[in-house]
This record gives sequence, C-alpha cells and structure tokens, in this order.
Amino acid sequence: MALQIGDKVPDFEADTSEGHIRFYDYIDGKWAILFSHPKNFTPVCTTELGYTAKLKDEFAKRGVVVMGLSVDQLTDHETWAKDIEETQGTALNFPLIADHDRKVATLYGMIHPNASDTMTVRSVFVIGPDKTLKMSLNYPASTGRNFDEILRVIDSLQLTAAHKVATPVNWKHGEDVIIVPAVSDEEAKTKFPGGWKALKPYLRIVPQPK
Ligand code: BEZ
Repeated sequence: MALQIGDKVPDFEADTSEGHIRFYDYIDGKWAILFSHPKNFTPVCTTELGYTAKLKDEFAKRGVVVMGLSVDQLTDHETWAKDIEETQGTALNFPLIADHDRKVATLYGMIHPNASDTMTVRSVFVIGPDKTLKMSLNYPASTGRNFDEILRVIDSLQLTAAHKVATPVNWKHGEDVIIVPAVSDEEAKTKFPGGWKALKPYLRIVPQPK
C-alpha cells in the first residue's frame, strides 16, 4: 500500500551524487523533502532540478534537507549535472540518488506502472523531524511541479507543529491563520493572548504567529 500521511517513512541506503548515504542519517531530526523525477537528460526535469537548487537558502531558512532521485547511473548524474548548471544557471547542491535498480523508487511507490514501467512519476514526500510523512504528491511526467508551493506547504506544516494553527485556502506566508479545532477556547486564551476573531465557534482566525 502507498505511504500515507502519518506513516513512518522507510529507511534505505543509496549511492548519490554526494556519496553513499543512509537516508535516516541524512534526515535525522530535520524536516526533509524526498522527490523523484522521471529520468536524466529530460527537459522538464532539468528545469525542476535547477530551480530546486536555486531554493537552497529557502530550504536552509526552514531547516529542510532535500534529496532527489533518478533511476539512472551515477556517471549519468555527473554528466547531467553539468547540463543543469549550464542551462539553469545553478549547480546541483543536494544529493541525487542513482536508483538505477529502482530499489528506492519501488520502496516509496514512485513507479506507477500504468504510466510507465521504467520511469518514476514526479513524486514529492515531505517528511517531519519525527520521520513521519507529512505530505505527498504525484505529478505526471509532462507537468513540472511548483516548488514554491512545496515551500508554502512546509511553512504551513511548521506553523501547525509550532503553534497549533492551520492555514486557510490559498494562504500565503504572513496572512491570517486558523486555530486548529483540537485547541479549546480555554487553551486558545493562553496561546493567543491577543484574542481571535470567531466567525463561527469552529472558525477562529488569528494573525500568523511569528
Ligand atoms: C521531462 O522531464 O521533460 C519529461 C520526462 C519524461 C516524459 C516527459 C517529459
């Protein structure tokens, strides 16, 4: 069965563009993103990897570590990395798994056989410091993902973890948030001493905590 939100994500060891890595060691106690893309030397993937590398400071600000996966050999990664730097203006700065035997892709359900037997779909797994899955998504090969949206999800997840607030439709960083239903009005009084706006007893709005 596919990994579900709340599940502990599986550990693995793999050869990557930054050496042999045990996944649990790499993500230990941190927020993490593991993402796949269909294949090396493909156009959409080239843009995605370049853009993800450009977000290095944004990930660092949030304490997030990133790892990519491609079902290709390490030597291909080295050659393709040069193309990414040349065409996207940024060099790879996170490990890219050389999953030529599809071991990790299979473990994480990144191969959807009715789409392709050999290539992965565009999967993203956002993992919490407790090593449980917080969010996942799958896009088809032909649609590049929006990595700014993934940052937005991480902001939301981190606000929930730190302040017990949820984020409403189309929320953007800095906008008002919602006190989660599990927080009673009693608890909310101590957590949000500035008060809140209750549109309904279950819809309590507060400014985004810092
Ligand atoms: C791409 O990255 O451009 C791509 C990869 C596989 C199928 C279609 C597009």
